[in-house]
Formats: sequence, structure tokens, C-alpha cells
Amino acid sequence: MFCCTESEITLRSHFEDAYRRSRVPVIQEIERRVCGCDYGGNSWTTKEQADALIGQLRLDKHSDLLDLGAGTGWPGIYMAKETGCAVSLVDLPEIGLQLAKKRAAEEGLEQRVSVTIADAADLPFAKGSFDAISHSDLLCCLIRKDVVLQQCVRVLRPQGYMAFTVISITRNLSKTQHERAIANAPGFAEIEIDYHSLLKNTGWRVTDWSDLTDEYRESCVRQIDADAENQSALENLLGSQETKERASNWGAKLDAMNDGLLLRELFVCQPA
Ligand SMILES: C[S@@+](CC[C@H](N)C(=O)[O-])C[C@H]1O[C@@H](n2cnc3c(N)ncnc32)[C@H](O)[C@@H]1O
Repeated sequence: MFCCTESEITLRSHFEDAYRRSRVPVIQEIERRVCGCDYGGNSWTTKEQADALIGQLRLDKHSDLLDLGAGTGWPGIYMAKETGCAVSLVDLPEIGLQLAKKRAAEEGLEQRVSVTIADAADLPFAKGSFDAISHSDLLCCLIRKDVVLQQCVRVLRPQGYMAFTVISITRNLSKTQHERAIANAPGFAEIEIDYHSLLKNTGWRVTDWSDLTDEYRESCVRQIDADAENQSALENLLGSQETKERASNWGAKLDAMNDGLLLRELFVCQPA
């Protein structure tokens, strides 16, 4: 059964809108400026980070990769193209996965890219189906983080690797700072325990960790600059009110990052 609470459904419809627009030239132009590619990405994963993921996940042409919360196929299709691996893309919005299939066909990768509409908390794959799992800012977009991590450990082979990025709220903030952090973070960025403890509790051993908050802030600056340079094309697409709101949202997010309210981390781990 697919998730979700009302708030998860609202977030899903936000992703569907973004995926519907993801192939409009101005959106692709902005995405190329922000993350260095134009797969319709909706996380803050840059091309440089996707290149690093290939090594962190030990991908090669024999690997079976699961890209969870794959959206329109970023970065899973790119990693399949670069390494020759096979990739299974899983997400809930059908529109994103349809666009992913189209992109895979355009790149001649249809034999190695498959798509499945499924809830990350209820994966329709047998135990040990994959050599590697990647997810980009997925866990901050859903409530049942522990169940998703348990599903991941089940479908990964014992020697496999999972690498993921996640955005969270800085700990020990004042009430006002905390409210600002929540207002500028993805829908479910708040977490009761830290990710190191959550991973341990769900059967994982962390083998590598990095703080990507500075890169996140730099991407946000590029987003603001790219939006400003493409303002009139954005206004044609979204209308002037939505374009103004978008600029103000990016500005508030950057302020929150500059004030140290948000974190973006990378975890690489193996089944414990
Ligand atoms: C931040 S986006 C990342 C999309 C893409 N991987 C990228 O890097 O641009 C998070 C994705 O997770 C998906 N997602 C959220 N909750 C999910 C769930 N319970 N099961 C599967 N996918 C989910 C969303 O639909 C969205 O496409």
C-alpha cells in the first residue's frame, strides 16, 4: 500500500508539478547552472557529487544499482551511463518515472534502466537484489525514515554499499531559529535522533561521512543568480507572482543557511 499522510501527499503534488516542468528550456538552463546537468533533478546533488557517488558506491558495469526517490532519473541514469551498471529507479509520481524512461531511451540506455512505482517503505524487491543503493535528499521528504532504512538493508547484498544525502535541521536552535529552519527546509527534515544513531538502529554501519552544507549553500547562490538571469523566461512560465515568491523563498533559504540553521550531509554505509 502506498503511503501517505496529507502532508506527504501535498509534497508529492509539489514534485509532480516540478517534474511536469522539468523539460521546459528555462528550467533546464537553470538546472545546468545549479547542478551541472539537466536530468530534471530536484535534489541538491551536483554532477560533481554524482561523480563522487560512483566511487563511493563502487559501481562498475556488473553492478545492480537501486536509485530510490529517483524523480526523473537523477542521478541514477547518469551513473548508469558513466559506469555501464544497471539501475532500478523507484519513486511515487508516475510522471517523473515516465520522463526518466524517455531520457534513458534518448541516451540508448533502455536495456539497463528500469522504473518501478513504489513506496520506499514497502519495496517490491527480494532480499539482496542490489549491489548498491543511492538516494538524494529522499529521507527529508518522508516520515517513515526508519522503515525505509530497514527496507534498504533488506534489499542490499551483504557486501553492498548505500550512499545518500540528506538535509536536516541544526540541533539546539532557539525557538525562533527552529521555526525559520523548518520554514526553509524540505517537508520532513526534522528528525528526533541524529542520522548516525538512526542508521545504527536500523542495521547499518557508517563507513564514510561528509558535511556538504557549504556546497549546498553554493548551489543555492547559483540558483538565485540563475533565476535572476532568467527572470523574464521564468515569468512567462510561472507568472510574475510565483516568480517573485520563488525568489523570496530562495533568499530566505540562503539566509537560513548563512545563519547555520540547515545541514546537508552525505552518508556512505554498509549492512552492519
Ligand atoms: C528531493 S527529491 C529527489 C529526486 C531525484 N532523485 C533528484 O535527485 O533530483 C525526493 C524524491 O523522493 C520521492 N519520495 C518521497 N517519498 C517517497 C516514498 N515514500 N517512496 C518513494 N519515493 C518517495 C519524491 O517523490 C521525490 O521524487
